[in-house]
Amino acid sequence: MSFRWFADTFFAKRYGHRAVVLETVAGVPGMVAGMWIHLKSLRKMKTGYGPDIRTLLAEAENERMHLMIFIEIAKPNWFERLLVLFAQFTFWHFYFVLYVLFPKTAHRMVGYFEEQAVISYTQYLEEIDAGRTENIAAPQIARDYYSLAEDATLRDVVIAVRADEQGHADVNHSMADNS
Ligand SMILES: [Fe+2]
Ligand SMILES: [Fe+2]
Repeated sequence: MSFRWFADTFFAKRYGHRAVVLETVAGVPGMVAGMWIHLKSLRKMKTGYGPDIRTLLAEAENERMHLMIFIEIAKPNWFERLLVLFAQFTFWHFYFVLYVLFPKTAHRMVGYFEEQAVISYTQYLEEIDAGRTENIAAPQIARDYYSLAEDATLRDVVIAVRADEQGHADVNHSMADNS
């Protein structure tokens, strides 16, 4: 909740900027968790970890693509870029330690973050539908990634991204349940 309050206050209605900055953070947990389970498989010399590793690395890749898409829509200012450097440095280390010691909590936390992301993208859609944010043409990279039509718009992109976030929420909650 306080995390959302911070984002709401800092970005206000600048949803494109909000998406850029938050997606740089969203790409971290899947990579950390996927890497850690990979290492666990190596040191235990045990099979059976493949599906989870691939799911988590795919999540990180998917979040990176969200960033590549939104960077076409909003250009971060220097302060936001500085915030990203600071956030990556702190969040990578924080999440790594959390994941090694309390993987269940770590997945649960990501599950909740992803639920917040769904809410943020729903608000972004409301802004577009109310005409407060221009419903521009979808960037090429987004059309390619989601196989959208030639005349797809930002609205279609946000709907596709939101569905990804819902998927991440479900996956992380179920990994929390099972770890
Ligand atoms: Fe995302
Ligand atoms: Fe996400």
